[in-house]
Amino acid sequence: MSTIKGFSKLSRTDKIAWLAKHFLTSNPLDIAREFASFMHTNSETQRLFDGISENTLTNFYMPYGVAPNFVINGRTYVVPMVIEESSVVAAAASGAKFWSERGGFHAEVVSTTKVGHVHFQWRGDSDKLFTFFSDIKDILILEVSHLTQNMEARGGGLKNIELIDCTHLEPEYYQLKATFETCDAMGANFINSVLEEFARTLEEEAKVYPEFSGAEKKIEVVMSILSNYTPESVVKAWVECPVEELGSFPEADLDAQAFAKKFRTAVNIANVDVSRATTHNKGIFNGVDAVVLATGNDFRAIEACGHAYAARDGQYRSLSKVSIIDGIFRFEIELPLAVGTVGGLTRLHPLSKRSLEMLGNPGAKELMKIMASVGLAQNFAAVKALVTSGIQKGHMKMHLTNILRHFNATDLEIENALQYFADKTVSFSGVREYLVKVRG
Ligand code: MEV
Repeated sequence: MSTIKGFSKLSRTDKIAWLAKHFLTSNPLDIAREFASFMHTNSETQRLFDGISENTLTNFYMPYGVAPNFVINGRTYVVPMVIEESSVVAAAASGAKFWSERGGFHAEVVSTTKVGHVHFQWRGDSDKLFTFFSDIKDILILEVSHLTQNMEARGGGLKNIELIDCTHLEPEYYQLKATFETCDAMGANFINSVLEEFARTLEEEAKVYPEFSGAEKKIEVVMSILSNYTPESVVKAWVECPVEELGSFPEADLDAQAFAKKFRTAVNIANVDVSRATTHNKGIFNGVDAVVLATGNDFRAIEACGHAYAARDGQYRSLSKVSIIDGIFRFEIELPLAVGTVGGLTRLHPLSKRSLEMLGNPGAKELMKIMASVGLAQNFAAVKALVTSGIQKGHMKMHLTNILRHFNATDLEIENALQYFADKTVSFSGVREYLVKVRG
């Protein structure tokens, strides 16, 4: 295997040439041409993309679509979605349309507190450490004031700090836990800067604390980092209507009552069975992630937190739930979301900026409501399909074009195939056989 030193210092052309020589099999010129073909035609924009990451060779395209008809708290949105899976945008749009005719989505932010920790080790009597902490608490806060003042001016900042004894979990292990309000920013840099300052102050103050002697003077900071688990940055979204207004589903021989019950059972199964819960929640994140990406937010943070939250009582469960009470069908979701509408990529990527404009330049709280509603719409559309026609009918129809493109079908072949498969089950081998036949 070829290893290399100083790869990052090579020019783009040399990086590609080295890669082609050692790791790719096609003609190096073709490879270079292919990478070049995905570069942005505007060199300034390309420089911007290159600057976002490292060792950039080109850009990787993802489809950018929109789902119209999202009525959320009485306001209508067109929601931008970046996703590579066919049928996700169509499902979101169909869920949005369905509920736009039944009162729309309702959403509220429960709280927006973010958390970070200085994880450290200290040897001594823990009571002494707690006294030290309360003696230096004001100094800790004062020492970060140069970092928090801007956020405070925007209505946020540091909310609280506390010392937590974790020695029952790991020897000599304590946490300084800090909570923050980061307003419209996701706030990762802000939180991490404050935590690192806390860490420095802790170490320095311990060295000179008169009540400490010997090993007590040494606080060993293991790490200072925000937590992506934000169970106190939570949004709720729900839809509801009289059961009768759900309509009937003749393809599955279900009237509104039977549909509502079957739908509830399906969601209940996702609440008790981890295998189903994972797929059910994946469907929710199909929608949430697509908006997270389109608005330049951090989908890894959102996913990690969402799944941890789904397992908060010790079992991984559905993030959504259904009730049918007094003839009212209610479907709701509760999601932890730490997102921003300022900072990070949100205003840097030209298309995230456009996405936010499309959404009316929302603040973080409004964006949380939009994302939760899209997750719920996505989940509704998926479960509705599952308990009525089955998922494959719609899925494979959308997938048909992809399969046809895989076989290099012409536009005319695609048009004819879409007609041919309109009333048939789509499968990869079925499409191949069909093409072999029509191509003679
Ligand atoms: C596919 O990407 C998502 C679904 O599997 C979600 C679900 O099963 O609820 C359709």
